[in-house]
Amino acid sequence: MNESGAQFWDAWWEKKFSLFTPHGAFMSLHDSSVLSVALRLDGSRQRHILLPGNGWSLVPYALAACGFEVVVIDISKLVLERVATKASEGEILRYLTAPARSLTKSHSHSGGSVTLVHGDVFSYLFDRQFDLIYEDRLAMLLNERGQAKLAEQYHSWLQPGGLCAIRTINYGLRQTNEGWDGSAVEPLRAQLGAAFLAAGFCEGRQKPLDKVVEFLHSSG
Ligand SMILES: C[S@@+](CC[C@H](N)C(=O)[O-])C[C@H]1O[C@@H](n2cnc3c(N)ncnc32)[C@H](O)[C@@H]1O
Repeated sequence: MNESGAQFWDAWWEKKFSLFTPHGAFMSLHDSSVLSVALRLDGSRQRHILLPGNGWSLVPYALAACGFEVVVIDISKLVLERVATKASEGEILRYLTAPARSLTKSHSHSGGSVTLVHGDVFSYLFDRQFDLIYEDRLAMLLNERGQAKLAEQYHSWLQPGGLCAIRTINYGLRQTNEGWDGSAVEPLRAQLGAAFLAAGFCEGRQKPLDKVVEFLHSSG
């Protein structure tokens, strides 16, 4: 475990909580996107999902309510404790966006579970592989070396035939009078694409056992 990284992210979340939780806010902005991707899996045999750097989203519990076995790994113990406490209070659906709530209700299925792992994506060893790895705003924060290493980790954790979805937002990109400067997205996308292809991923499935990477981007 990278102790200084863990301290950095605990402090980062502490600050966020001091700003937001008095109002009961809970991160739910992108939950319908991960649910839509997960629901493309063949849930009868592809049930294992990994959410690295999940932060304070309750979407793992929505996925579990749809029958998936979900593992969250995050370096911040603080955020994991916050998520576990919130989930234990029940009624997680009310923290989801309306589209995510409706997807969860219409795809409700027994057999799901959530396991929270306090660990570092760069050093953790899982004893199983996953059908889907969905990650939101972690790879995009790393330098090229970090992205290359992360892509290798994700490749080793993904089942043959599995899907890895990497979401980026406009964070850190330039805002102009016309909105976000889209020209900065392409280099980020190209850099991530190169790292994931070098790790052995394919963009677009050619063969059933390909490990496929998909990049999702929105203004965030
Ligand atoms: C920018 S936040 C994104 C949180 C969430 N996915 C979202 O979109 O709101 C990055 C998350 O990754 C976690 N993280 C950062 N470095 C990590 C590492 N090396 N291993 C595991 N988690 C890490 C942080 O604690 C944080 O929860």
